[in-house]
Amino acid sequence: MSSYQIRQTPGDTEWFRSARFGMFIHWGLYAMPARHEWIKCRERITEDKYDQYFKYFDPDLYDPREWAKMAKAAGMKYAVFTTKHHEGFCMFDSQYTDYKCTNTPAGRDLLREFVDAFRAEGIRIGFYYSLIDWHHPHFTIDYIHPRRDDPDAEQQNIGRDMAIYARYMRDQVRELLTIYGKIDILWFDWSYPNSNGEKVKPWMKGKGRQDWESEKLIALARELQPGIIIDNRADIEQDLWTPEQYQVTEWVRHKETGELVTWEACQTFSGSWGYHRDETSWKSPEMLIRMLVNTVSCGGNLLMNVGPNARGEFDSRAKAALNAFADWMHGNSRSIHNCTMAEPDLLSCLPPDCRFTQSQDGKRLYLHLFAYPFGHLLLRGLAGKVDYAQFLHDGSEILMTEGKVDHFSEGAAKGDDLLVLNLPVIKPDVLVPVIELFLK
Ligand code: GLC
Repeated sequence: MSSYQIRQTPGDTEWFRSARFGMFIHWGLYAMPARHEWIKCRERITEDKYDQYFKYFDPDLYDPREWAKMAKAAGMKYAVFTTKHHEGFCMFDSQYTDYKCTNTPAGRDLLREFVDAFRAEGIRIGFYYSLIDWHHPHFTIDYIHPRRDDPDAEQQNIGRDMAIYARYMRDQVRELLTIYGKIDILWFDWSYPNSNGEKVKPWMKGKGRQDWESEKLIALARELQPGIIIDNRADIEQDLWTPEQYQVTEWVRHKETGELVTWEACQTFSGSWGYHRDETSWKSPEMLIRMLVNTVSCGGNLLMNVGPNARGEFDSRAKAALNAFADWMHGNSRSIHNCTMAEPDLLSCLPPDCRFTQSQDGKRLYLHLFAYPFGHLLLRGLAGKVDYAQFLHDGSEILMTEGKVDHFSEGAAKGDDLLVLNLPVIKPDVLVPVIELFLK
């Protein structure tokens, strides 16, 4: 068994740490301008102008069963869907607003269809819910609000009451957590209590737990769905730490206690979360696989984002990226699911340009080759510990020697602690080859 002690929190995180890989879905009206989900803020778009998207939103090709099949093929075990993003538009049939998909040409509860389709593929369901809301009339204008630079911005705040907005959030969270069956994850996003510098006038300051009334919001969620996993972004620490668009190099720890925590890296294919037509910074298939491996090698999960387009489809670039995961996971998912960071004594044997993961029962060690070496792979400290070795993708034996490299050359490595893997010259046709080591 893995010896790592992980900080205990109220949510049921055990299944989550076995699942390791999930799909993030950022979908809303911002798929139409197709130039970042923060478009309303960045371009300071007025309600009138933004209403055009509401008027014409018609995802006629939306078939979440297709999405769910792609997620499953990619090895994703859960999916987190934007029920509402910062723009405030609801992708579900809320009774507390008219600003929802059922009132657009879409005319249907898009969330309901997502939930049913993904559940049918055995994928667990998570809801992203934006704390920020640039549409709600009681959400006060602050330094990231689209109206921040209006000459009368301060006056526009008169009569706005965040307590009314906080109640609206509770009403919606109650809907989300009662109407759609068992929900495994609630992904609040996000808090910014520390305003950025003195440029920000007091009335423009950022928002945090007092504004959201986070304690009440979270208590409600826990009452409705005991065991639900909640992230830390409502400005109160909960179950889940969420490094964003960043590759960590070691297991994320609790700031004060130093304990290991349950963490999930969220990443995009190309930089923006919502569908972005003109973005060219798409990650290569190999980079994507490495990111997944690296995350699990540090004891974390990867939540990989797709931004569906305004017709309701994953575009060809997103499909290609998901296919890269599907191809690789087909033969290699055993090194991801139910795996975690290798035990400390094994970690010290890691050769350069490689990553280890280890099955949670401790019996198998997975060696991922980020660079493919010629001939021999030297594992110092593993002599006597490995019973059998094979490539994971095809189950073909990897011959091993101990104590020395079996080669006539001067300078061939030796040492009692040395385990040598003999590799074929040609790198197998796998983006990141994995060697499965059965431990004694
Ligand atoms: C950021 C962004 C947001 C995105 C989120 C995903 O907080 O505000 O657009 O949804 O990251 O982690």
